[in-house]
Amino acid sequence: MYKIKNLLNKKNKSKIICLTAYSKNMASILDNHCDIILVGDSLGSVLYNFKSTRGVSLDMMIEHSKSVRMGIKKSLMVVDMPHNTYRNSSEALKNAKKIISKTKCDAVKLEGGSKIINIVKHLIKNKILVLGHLGILPQSQKGKFRFKGKKLSERIKILKDAKLLEKAGVFSIVLECVETSLSKTITRELKIPTIGIGASSFCDGQVLVTDDLIGLNPINARFVKRYTNISKYINSAIIKFKNDVKEIKFPKKKHSY
Ligand code: KIV
Repeated sequence: MYKIKNLLNKKNKSKIICLTAYSKNMASILDNHCDIILVGDSLGSVLYNFKSTRGVSLDMMIEHSKSVRMGIKKSLMVVDMPHNTYRNSSEALKNAKKIISKTKCDAVKLEGGSKIINIVKHLIKNKILVLGHLGILPQSQKGKFRFKGKKLSERIKILKDAKLLEKAGVFSIVLECVETSLSKTITRELKIPTIGIGASSFCDGQVLVTDDLIGLNPINARFVKRYTNISKYINSAIIKFKNDVKEIKFPKKKHSY
């Protein structure tokens, strides 16, 4: 609860930093810098080459989250509930409890607004912390990618959904690829913080997929800023290792028993 209070207190004061992790070593680096570490179901496309996040299973999320848990000391840990694991309230509660008991995460994230509002309410009534997710919903996205909030009807629906989620008791909402003025309005009208990805700097915080940010995942999307090209550094280390082995420079006596 202390972590949630801290997070809510950041609204209109300082930006919330959220990044994804799928394993312990990455999580332990992020833990020094993040408010929230998200075990996102984006791992389906980033690690497993799935075309969408729909193929991600509960077991995959749990196994990756167990690893991530070992790397976190202070950040709030949120785990995505994967597709088809919250089709009704009892299924959602059973699976959310399973995720929390097996991974010791702090909260779960579900995609959607009015469609899943009774499910969200049921989880919260059962003392489960929920992070909302509106805008592009990768688990139900069909066809071509398009940002959300161009059409008036879409804008009205997303704002209404955000208010519904807030009223239901989610502690924050991720806005994915939501048009700038709409994310500004939502952020202004809600008391809880918004966390944007492709949703402008008006949000209370930002989230990115870490593998995209460090240049490990070859994605070319407008909302991604690549801060380094880690693949280049890995590549040059591997070349050095390969050459050392071939030239019998590694292992030396000090590396041997
Ligand atoms: O799955 C994920 O990593 C996410 C973030 C991109 C918000 O949902």
